[in-house]
Amino acid sequence: MNLVLDYNEGTDHLALLRRIDFCNVTGPLFVDMDRVPFFHPSTLTLLYGIFKLHYCTTPGEKRTCQPASFQSSETDVNRYVQRVNFFDSCPDLKPLREEKFRRHDPAGRFVPITEVHKMEETDSVAQRIVSVIFSKSKVSGETQVKYALSELMDNALQHAESPIGCVVQAQLYRTNSVEGVILDCGMGVRKHLQGNRTIVSELTSDEKALQKALEPHVSGTHNRKRDPEKREGGYHNAGLGLPVCCELMKRSGGFLQLISGKSCLTVDREGCRHTAIAGWPGTFITFRINYQNIANITDIIKEFDIRKTKGHNLEKGEAPKFI
Ligand SMILES: Nc1ncnc2c1ncn2[C@@H]1O[C@H](COP(=O)(O)OP(=O)(O)OP(=O)(O)O)[C@@H](O)[C@H]1O
Ligand SMILES: [Mg+2]
Repeated sequence: MNLVLDYNEGTDHLALLRRIDFCNVTGPLFVDMDRVPFFHPSTLTLLYGIFKLHYCTTPGEKRTCQPASFQSSETDVNRYVQRVNFFDSCPDLKPLREEKFRRHDPAGRFVPITEVHKMEETDSVAQRIVSVIFSKSKVSGETQVKYALSELMDNALQHAESPIGCVVQAQLYRTNSVEGVILDCGMGVRKHLQGNRTIVSELTSDEKALQKALEPHVSGTHNRKRDPEKREGGYHNAGLGLPVCCELMKRSGGFLQLISGKSCLTVDREGCRHTAIAGWPGTFITFRINYQNIANITDIIKEFDIRKTKGHNLEKGEAPKFI
């Protein structure tokens, strides 16, 4: 694959995903970043995942990158690319890591792109990320951002069987928001949900599968009555991780974007929009959460439960129960 990034694709990963089918990367991989005047973490994390996948699946092939050269008094694109550790994605790009600047102390507004390979690590990685990005700001939302990051990393590591594990990045913005990216190159949402016989007939497209995955309690596999302590709060595999994250982002005025196969669903206060993409080999999630307007996770879960029981418990004057 010979990929020359367009001017806008550094900040518009969806434009890139509409144009390029990443399920089909064959031969040597060359990425030219030279036209890009600015990067958002989502495009860089996406390309990190692709270099990593290419290295893991075809180690004998060649991988090269033409770095971005744009510089102004405010921006040095390649320096940003270096600071997020993009060139750590595979050994072939390591020569491009040479840094002609001094790194700041780790406390700041963003963390470098981070790989996670084991379920046991997701909590501590999420904690490390929020500690870094919230360290200089006296704002709330750390708990919810940590929750979202660890739920989404858990999904990638538990469901995807991704050859590259999971890749994550998060960044605090001055607009009172945190944006995050979590991706894997595994089986994708549709294939995983197809293991659930009760819903398999409804999964006629990637779009339908993504919609299903966002419904509470659809995918749950774990019986909390039998093993309620399996995870803090007892919600492990209740089919709630994605829907709760989505509600959290949406209610704060942010968004959750769920991408897998040939589909992208973007959910925000305006509703849920579908965009067809060329192809992503796994699951790719980006989100924005406005930390000044954060909902309570327990309230969201209670509301889902009331909806599931259609309010029967409450009519009887009982507290909501999980089934
Ligand atoms: N990264 C992923 N790769 C493959 N399938 C995924 C991925 N993320 C989510 N899914 C699919 O979406 C479903 C819904 O995810 P969700 O996090 O809501 O539930 P869960 O992981 O099954 O349970 P819980 O999060 O409550 O422990 C999953 O069961 C799985 O089928
Ligand atoms: Mg989950």
